[in-house]
Amino acid sequence: MRRKMVAGNWKMHGSLAANKVLLDALVAAPAPVCDVVVCVPGPYLAQAQGLLAGTAINLGAQDCSAHEQGPYTGEVSANMLRDFACGHVIVGHSERRASFCEDDSTVAIKAQRALDAGMTPIVCVGETLEQREHGQTEAVVGTQLDAVFMLLGQRIHQIVLAYEPVWAIGTGRTASPMQAQQVHAFIRQRAIRHHSNAVGIRLLYGGSVKPDNAAELFAQPDIDGGLIGGASLKAADFLAVVDAARFSA
Ligand code: PGA
Repeated sequence: MRRKMVAGNWKMHGSLAANKVLLDALVAAPAPVCDVVVCVPGPYLAQAQGLLAGTAINLGAQDCSAHEQGPYTGEVSANMLRDFACGHVIVGHSERRASFCEDDSTVAIKAQRALDAGMTPIVCVGETLEQREHGQTEAVVGTQLDAVFMLLGQRIHQIVLAYEPVWAIGTGRTASPMQAQQVHAFIRQRAIRHHSNAVGIRLLYGGSVKPDNAAELFAQPDIDGGLIGGASLKAADFLAVVDAARFSA
């Protein structure tokens, strides 16, 4: 049985004051029914590390450098994140692929850096609306996956994958549970075909997950939780999504 996971992706939102209110509320809630991660902006890692220490909520980051160290102004390495007790890091989010020109091989290297630093990468894949409408979803997602699988080899069972259709991110337009399940099943098969030890790999769905649609999505057989953007910024919404993880297939 795969344990469910709900990860919040705050993106470029927050302030010291707002973070404290949000994290205090998350920490005060009853023990979560699944693994919970909050991926905060880099400057707030120390604050979040302090507020989450000794709690059931895990700290994550939103990106790491493809380089280990060196003259890369503005970059943050996986090892630096690890210094702040970051256990997870999102890599290959579609916003980074689209706005910061990250290609599949860069995303794969970032996933490898995260693993080498002792963190779990949450590797995002997903197609645009145009690609879906042209029937290219599996081809696009398959290519994104293969770059990561080829580089990581048998370590792929150590990662978490997030299927995030680009057209569903921040748009209020969610993939239907059936649409999401179809792609998740495809991803799991692809991972297992690559290495049989990937049978238990956790696959999150992301894209306009809200309290009112989370339970139905999380109840799909190949959906092991969610990567949550907008709804992770309000404690009540995020906690309701976390609670929806009790609905399993
Ligand atoms: P959203 O974002 O929940 O606001 O659609 C999800 C994500 O980008 O990870």
